[in-house]
Amino acid sequence: MDAFVLGAGGQLGMEMVRELEGRGYEVLALARRDLNITVESEFEALMERSRPRWTINCAAYNLVDQAESEPEKAMAVNGFAVRGLAQVCQRFGSTLLHYSTDHVFDGRSEQPYVEEDLPAAPSAYGISKLAGEHFARSYCDNAYIVRVAGVFGPGGVITRHGNFPELIYKRTSADEPLRIVNDYFSTPTYAPALASRSIDLLEKAAPGLYHLGGGETISWYEWARKIATTAGLSPDLITPIGHVDYPTPAKRPQYASLSNARTEALGIATMPSLDQAATEWLELRNKIATAKQS
Ligand SMILES: NC(=O)c1ccc[n+]([C@@H]2O[C@H](COP(=O)([O-])OP(=O)(O)OC[C@H]3O[C@@H](n4cnc5c(N)ncnc54)[C@H](OP(=O)(O)O)[C@@H]3O)[C@@H](O)[C@H]2O)c1
Repeated sequence: MDAFVLGAGGQLGMEMVRELEGRGYEVLALARRDLNITVESEFEALMERSRPRWTINCAAYNLVDQAESEPEKAMAVNGFAVRGLAQVCQRFGSTLLHYSTDHVFDGRSEQPYVEEDLPAAPSAYGISKLAGEHFARSYCDNAYIVRVAGVFGPGGVITRHGNFPELIYKRTSADEPLRIVNDYFSTPTYAPALASRSIDLLEKAAPGLYHLGGGETISWYEWARKIATTAGLSPDLITPIGHVDYPTPAKRPQYASLSNARTEALGIATMPSLDQAATEWLELRNKIATAKQS
């Protein structure tokens, strides 16, 4: 067995399975109904049977605001479960690929974050993801930790929690006005491009910490306009607001730009532009939506 993909029902998990299979790897796709990653004994039993070369963990608790009122749940999935995965991987000699987030940073920098920058997570979610990074690194010698931001993939049209482009697409399609924050910045990361570059990393680079954010730093407002424009919908339905006008339970990093300089220096392809990614995302999400209806 080449790889386990955990959280295979999520938007990144499904792209990872598609990309691995496309490269001819033998994959066991494990969605939440197949494996709850917090149950270490079940993971261990699967590992005992199949002994994959790679264990790719795409499962996560991603409810940034909700985590403020249930930090234990966030920590159970994003922190302690990762400790269990890392320990089992170490015992069975499986390499662990685990994903983290730009929310491990406080966002006060004015330059894109590099891997050497000191994290200072501003929320319960960020703290739980940072704990996961530490557990992965501390308990598994062969661990790749990849930080990403604002993940969006075509599968978001069918996953439980969707993604930002999906929300903007649905609301602007219904002619609903929207207020979107214009003074918070991110590097939205296109899931299919992330999946292929992640596998390149496994194939070519040594274990370690890597950033693989999207190709551009953009405000959430500008990103929303780009989505509406790409879809031929009206960007004028979207009004820019400051973050002070949109209070949320969780603090978010204001400038959450991830630098991919380290991965690019290793020969990993640059991420596609947001225009390119948005165009492809739209085409693929429409195909999935149409297939779902018929
Ligand atoms: N989405 C983002 O904007 C974003 C931003 C930064 C970093 N990331 C990171 O990128 C990675 C991939 O995220 P994604 O965007 O693909 O998220 P996603 O679409 O929400 O997928 C996550 C998957 O994990 C599953 N899951 C949750 N708890 C689980 C458990 N205890 N056992 C097994 N599966 C469980 C979820 O199932 P249910 O749907 O049933 O809950 C879902 O299928 C994660 O590490 C995430 O933290 C994502």
